[in-house]
Amino acid sequence: MKTVSPFREITPTSDKVSVRFEEVELMLPRGENLAGALLVAGIMPFRYTPVSGAARGPFCMMGACYDCLVEIDGVTRQACMLQVTEGMEITMPSARGPEDA
Ligand code: FES
Repeated sequence: MKTVSPFREITPTSDKVSVRFEEVELMLPRGENLAGALLVAGIMPFRYTPVSGAARGPFCMMGACYDCLVEIDGVTRQACMLQVTEGMEITMPSARGPEDA
């Protein structure tokens, strides 16, 4: 699930905090946009659709498409509408992946 990312931080910062995405520990820049930070870290996809199992990730980056949905502390949220904070436990909102389809 973690891939080589074509994205880069515009202004790299040393103020990084530990978060986990699907049991993978990541060091992300504190206060940055969560969807952007996950893309820079090479995380893709963010989820799989519940019906077809198609992979999804951020598209609009402004809260309109819902393709960036992730689950944080049991609540499904839009990653593009959140900031990175210390200790986030992030999972895919659907446990169903393409291998389960
Ligand atoms: S990327 Fe479209 S709602 Fe987050």
